[in-house]
Order: sequence, then C-alpha cells, then structure tokens
Amino acid sequence: MRTRPLKVALLGCGVVGSEVARIMTTHADDLAARIGAPVELAGVAVRRPSKVRAGIDPSLVTTDATALVKRGDIDVVVEVIGGIEPARSLITTAFEHGASVVSANKALLAQDGAALHAAAEEHGKDLYYEAAVAGAIPLIRPLRESLAGDKINRVMGIVNGTTNFILDKMDSTGAGYQEALDEATALGYAEADPTADVEGFDAAAKAAILAGIAFHTRVRLDDVYREGMTEVTAADFRSAKEMGCTIKLLAICERSKDGASVTARVHPAMIPLSHPLASVRGAYNAVFVESDAAGQLMFYGPGAGGSPTASAVLGDLVAVCRNRLNGATGPGESAYAALTVSPMGEVVTRYHISLDVADKPGVLAQVATVFAEHGVSIDTVRQQGRPDGDGEASLVVVTHRASDASLTGTVEALRKLDTVRGVASIMRVEGE
Ligand code: HSE
Repeated sequence: MRTRPLKVALLGCGVVGSEVARIMTTHADDLAARIGAPVELAGVAVRRPSKVRAGIDPSLVTTDATALVKRGDIDVVVEVIGGIEPARSLITTAFEHGASVVSANKALLAQDGAALHAAAEEHGKDLYYEAAVAGAIPLIRPLRESLAGDKINRVMGIVNGTTNFILDKMDSTGAGYQEALDEATALGYAEADPTADVEGFDAAAKAAILAGIAFHTRVRLDDVYREGMTEVTAADFRSAKEMGCTIKLLAICERSKDGASVTARVHPAMIPLSHPLASVRGAYNAVFVESDAAGQLMFYGPGAGGSPTASAVLGDLVAVCRNRLNGATGPGESAYAALTVSPMGEVVTRYHISLDVADKPGVLAQVATVFAEHGVSIDTVRQQGRPDGDGEASLVVVTHRASDASLTGTVEALRKLDTVRGVASIMRVEGE
C-alpha cells in the first residue's frame, strides 16, 4: 500500500459534511485498505468557523474555500454545500487546480451538469455525484455502469422523502395536506420553507439527472415538467382507494415507444397498491427501473439524512481515489444518444378526472362527447348523487391512455360546459 496519503478537501461541514468527516476518521484503516492508500482530511471550508465541530481538528477549518481548492496538493474535493454558487465556481476551480470532485449537489448537476462534466474532462479529472439523487441508494453507478450494456426504457421513482412522508400520512390517517405537512414539520421531515420539496423542485432536479444518465441524453432541469403535491386532497386519496390505488409524488423519465425521444416529469399520480412503489412508506425513497434485458429493478432505501448521504459520498470518494491511484478516470458524461426531450403534451398516460356536474338528463352524454371529440377514450365512469340533493353530482371519469395535450384540451372544453360546475381534480394514473 502507498503510504503517502491522498488529500481530501471538504467544502461544507453541516449534516452531511460532518458525517463524511466522522466516517473518514473512524473508518480510516478500512478506507485505506480498500483504496490502496490512506486518505487524509486536509482542509474543511465552513461559513461559521467558531462553531465547535466534534472530531475535526480546528487547524483544518477555514472560511476561505477558494484558497483551499486552489492549494494544488488536494486530490479530491468533496462539495456538500449545495446551491449553485459558490459551489459551481469552487468545483471548476478544483478541476483547474488538479483535484477530482465528489458532489452531492443535485440542483447544480441538474442545471449545469454538462458544463461541469466538460470541465472535468478538460482537466482529466473525475466528477462523481451518487449522493445527489436519493441519498444512500445506489442509483447513479448502477445506471452508469451496471446497466451500461442494457437499454433503459423507464425510470420511475419516489425521490423525495419529505413529500412521501406527507402523502403516506394522508393515506394512512385520512389527514388533509396541511395537517400532514404540519406533522412532517414538527418531526423535522419538512423544512420551515418546504417549497423545494412540496412543489417538486427537488424531485425535478433528480429526475433531470436520472434521465440524462439513463438515456445517454442531456436533460436539464428546464426540460422536466413539474407539478407539486400541495393540491392533493383527502378526497383524492378516497378516490384512489376506490380504484385500489394510492397517491405518490413520482419522478418519471420515459423513452417514447419509437425510441426517438424521451420525457421527464414530476407530479402526483395514482399508482395501484400492487405496484412496488406503493409500498414505499414514510420518508423512504425508491426508484423502479425498466430495461430491455434486465426487466424490472427496484432500488430502495433512505433518500436523505446525514449518515445515509455520507455513505454515498464515501463510496464515490473511494472510487475516485482508486481511479487517482491508477492514473485513470471513471465514466464521464454520456450524452451520445442526444435524443429529443419532448414536452409534457406528448406524454401518454391514463387520467382520473373528478367533475362536479348538474344532476340532470343528458349531462353524462355531453361529457362523454367532449372526451370523444378530443380522442380520449373513457375506461370507466362513476356517478354519485349528492345526499344533500343540491341538484349536483360527482362524476369520476377514468380514461384509457391518451396524450397530455389531448387531456388538457378535453379539460378546457369541459370547463366551458354549463353543466360542468367544476373540475375537482385531475390525477394521472401510472404503473399499470
Ligand atoms: N429534501 C429532500 C427529501 C432530501 O425530502 O428527500 C434532499 O434531496
């Protein structure tokens, strides 16, 4: 074994960074044996230097992250500060000064992955980011390496633990969205400002990364259709149950039937209780992958938290250090397929539409005609009169597969009918 250590600079020492430092120290011998050389924490860049950090030598702590990545003797920079800047500049500077990079930064990778990969390649360095998607769950490496000989057709996952916790609560207790969110906040699952999670931004960044790798095509955050889950109601869960389904916030990356294009989207959807993703409870994540040769695979585990995310960071650190010792680099960006990334209108799926309609003769026929005029075939219709006898009824229409554009046209036309008093909810139905 080489005795000269590989030097690691840690950018950020919060929930994840402090766990990375702890594991590097407590598992130092094992890491050295697995890599073939010791790894040494050579510097830790933080915002608040006065904070006491157990197990970290205070002499390693600096507020000057730029100087740390410019040192020239750093082998690997571990970036766990998140956000776009200064993370992007620090990573680029790290490559320029001879270091490889391990990052957990989904927002940055989803927005600027192509440019960062290009910078890594230009300088002959590695850029690894297993921790950017679904915490501890191995996903990037299986998609990039284990399935490199297969053809992936679909990646569908629960990649946000906060929203899965909320939806699971609504499902199991009948609670409304706000009540479930309040509980998630009280238990520390949801942040004080939960927007990034509940509006689907976090999941959309992860979808962009997964789609890019799965389909060997550049998919940016802007290419991902996004709908949050704040409008999901207890009534939606009751409807889902009547269909033998539950509701999940799904990230879905799909290859089109003709193979020429792909789509990526995040939205709440009904899935059958028999689907493996339906059984993902609490704050857990899971990703269901469908490919030509392997068939169906499911990756499951904790998608957030200091220690699970640090596990993924450490795995990348070992891989990057091994590459470094071998004078090699691992796989970089693979975007050779350059498939068209299609807009949401071209997505084809099934829909569950709940309408409030006038309860009088001919209404059902009127509604059915609107669906027919837009080429959307109805699978089932269920009408329920209201016990209060207010002359209105609830009409639930479940469609066969149709394009999102056709469904949007159908709903616009339905809203114009006098007899349709309101469109209570529209939910896609997936996983059948
Ligand atoms: N906030 C995310 C979640 C974790 O709830 O899953 C980090 O991506």
